[in-house]
Amino acid sequence: MEVGFLGLGIMGKAMATNLLKHGFKVTVWNRTLSKCDELRELGASVGETPAAVVARCKLTIAMLSDPSAALSVVFNKNGALEKISSGKGYIDMSTVDAETSIKINEAISSKGGHFLEAPVSGSKKPAEDGQLVILAAGEKSLYDEAVPAFDVLGKKSFFLGKVGNGAKMKLVVNMVMGSMMNAFSEGLVLADKSGLDPHTLLDVLDLGAIANPMFKMKGPTMIKGNYAPAFPLKHQQKDMRLALALGDENAVSMPVAAASNEAFKKARSLGLGDLDFSAVYKTVKDSQS
Ligand SMILES: NC(=O)c1ccc[n+]([C@@H]2O[C@H](COP(=O)([O-])OP(=O)(O)OC[C@H]3O[C@@H](n4cnc5c(N)ncnc54)[C@H](OP(=O)(O)O)[C@@H]3O)[C@@H](O)[C@H]2O)c1
Repeated sequence: MEVGFLGLGIMGKAMATNLLKHGFKVTVWNRTLSKCDELRELGASVGETPAAVVARCKLTIAMLSDPSAALSVVFNKNGALEKISSGKGYIDMSTVDAETSIKINEAISSKGGHFLEAPVSGSKKPAEDGQLVILAAGEKSLYDEAVPAFDVLGKKSFFLGKVGNGAKMKLVVNMVMGSMMNAFSEGLVLADKSGLDPHTLLDVLDLGAIANPMFKMKGPTMIKGNYAPAFPLKHQQKDMRLALALGDENAVSMPVAAASNEAFKKARSLGLGDLDFSAVYKTVKDSQS
């Protein structure tokens, strides 16, 4: 199966590598083209533009930072849309809002192509291990065609119906995650300021009903002040912003998410956007001293 892959950031690089390792023929493109070199060494072909990749592959996957990146890779000059034709499939796995997905779907469909949105739950490590959770929606026939690739990239894929449902599901999940990260950060600071050992707090949390892989994995590195990015904070803030907009649309009041969004915005304003989203802990901690 020949697959195109657009976007070799933290997630895209791991996902394209997995496809190569599992015998897919992969043609990659990245805005900063030098990032394709590592994939080329692993056997990938390189396309000079998104259009060149789509021209070559029946199926193209995109994994880009945000709505504006997802739109520009499709609609700009030499963008994917130029070479979409009857029977070609385009799968956008970036985390975007439903409106962005719908816009891309309309454009791809108008040229006879098939579209699927398929954002993922899971971070750098699950991407490397092929353990993502895939939240797909759109053209069911394209979903069926993509299942062999999804089986390599993820541990489970959901087909959620019409375009927009995958984006919405992903935003709900990340809204919960971002709020949890803020509550966790406040808990770590509260434990410390109250004279408790934060490591003991981690042990206690891990044995109770709110134990979860995120606290377990991020807790020790946060206490050490290590915020090497697995999920960049700027993307978490983008997801909070898009989830809050979804709340606006549906008249859902979300004060906890709104406060968390403010904390992520503050962290961005302090220059922490490219660090891991757990760096919000640093802002919570520093604002108390
Ligand atoms: N990291 C995670 O844990 C995680 C988990 C689930 C979902 N996601 C979502 O997956 C997507 C990718 O995340 P990531 O962590 O891989 O992000 P990343 O490391 O920041 O990579 C972003 C990618 O988008 C490209 N890009 C940015 N702006 C662009 C533009 N205007 N035109 C073309 N390409 C552009 C970048 O190209 P350059 O290399 O040229 O900058 C890079 O390939 C995001 O939507 C994120 O929310 C991430």
